Amino acid sequence: MTLVEPTHNLSLEELDRQSVFHPYTALADHLEKGVRVISEGSGVWVADPNGKRYLDAVAGLWCVNIGYGRSEVADAIHEQAKKLAYFHSFSSMGTEPSIRLADRLLRLAPDGMSKVLFGNTGSDANDTNVKLIWYYNHLRGKPGKVKLIARDKGYHGVTVASASLTGLPLLHKAFNLPIPEVRHVSCPDPYRVKPEGLSERDFSKQLAKELDETIEHEGPDTVAAFFAEPVMGAGGVHVPPEGYFDEIQPVLAKHDVLFVADEVICGFGRLGHWFGSNLYNIKPDLITTAKGLTSGYIPMSASLVGDKIWNVLIDTSKDIGPFGHGYTYGGHPVAAAAAMANLDIFERDDLVSNAATVGSHLQASMREAFADHPLVGHVRGVGLILGIEFVADKGSKRPFEGAAKIAPKVSQAAHARGLLARPLPGGDIIALSPPLSITKEEVDVVTERLRDALDEVAKGD
Ligand SMILES: Cc1ncc(COP(=O)(O)O)c(C=O)c1O
Repeated sequence: MTLVEPTHNLSLEELDRQSVFHPYTALADHLEKGVRVISEGSGVWVADPNGKRYLDAVAGLWCVNIGYGRSEVADAIHEQAKKLAYFHSFSSMGTEPSIRLADRLLRLAPDGMSKVLFGNTGSDANDTNVKLIWYYNHLRGKPGKVKLIARDKGYHGVTVASASLTGLPLLHKAFNLPIPEVRHVSCPDPYRVKPEGLSERDFSKQLAKELDETIEHEGPDTVAAFFAEPVMGAGGVHVPPEGYFDEIQPVLAKHDVLFVADEVICGFGRLGHWFGSNLYNIKPDLITTAKGLTSGYIPMSASLVGDKIWNVLIDTSKDIGPFGHGYTYGGHPVAAAAAMANLDIFERDDLVSNAATVGSHLQASMREAFADHPLVGHVRGVGLILGIEFVADKGSKRPFEGAAKIAPKVSQAAHARGLLARPLPGGDIIALSPPLSITKEEVDVVTERLRDALDEVAKGD
């Protein structure tokens, strides 16, 4: 506050109201309610300017995987910015941190990845992947193979192509989206979408059949790729039913349709494995990464490009000329240095194993605490990602009506108790995705505060 008062004589809250366009915010409400400022963080904790502390059980936006306040990353940023604050990777130029990072990512990634193309956000990396898919099909003589299949409730970002892939009406309504190439198939949600009485395995078969029929209906020569998060995040934390990816992948292979694994949340340890693809035996052609790549200390994303695509590009590159795509800040050396320091911490502290162990504790504690709670219909998750879905009636799974939605109230009640938990846009669902460095004791703090918050909301309704 002191920074702005001398010149503007306005509080930070007033300045915010006057100047900031908040993304993913109810614009008119914000003008009434105002901003909630966070000013510092350490470990799983953040604090506001009044010193009130919050356990951030969402790791910002599912991204601060190493936790806050890691001076190693800050030092790496500082050193790199002093040494070489910027250089690009266009026209065969490069910098040491981005080269070393690409090599490291390929060694960590699932088999079959050939090259790394850097970006700045998960959204732009998905747009890059869409363009790569179209480019690849053009170059191999299939220019009509352009359609993209994603899933209802899938989240892939907000840029024109990635928002189109996202399966949430909020991102399409009034934005003139989705683009005409995109189709959506059913959400693999075993709680709401699976028919009563069907086994999970049979539900997976049903979803694979739907995908097969969709591709047949569109015409296999027109369908280019399928986009999927291993575990769906923002659309409601949907864990795939048993055998889902085993059933889906042969359908894609049969129709020569590429698989893009959007690992923006699942990548870098969240599911207790380096990548979600490892857990579900996914063999992607492209992988989208961001968030945990730098743990949000600085923006960076990366598209990992598989051999199949790379080989076509390299074979035809002499005929088509330079690859006409790239971002000014792609492979930014400061971001790459931050990513390297971030990955050093992952390895030194064995955060992926911690996510598996403490993740089991999180999953068990939350189910024990909330599965029978009167407001709760379903508790689900894997590793350190968890969703709690609220229902008005457990038997029929009837949701609460519009304004009575529970998740925002629980989030608010949790906020008052020093806990950050996020209501999701895709349903009456609250998400947890804490830093991977969280301890069992800290998970117990989350459980306790969330229980108090839920009990308060239950009393008030
Ligand atoms: C799975 C997934 N893909 C893509 C994105 C978009 O990333 P960004 O917000 O960095 O553009 C997100 C963001 O939450 C995501 O969860």
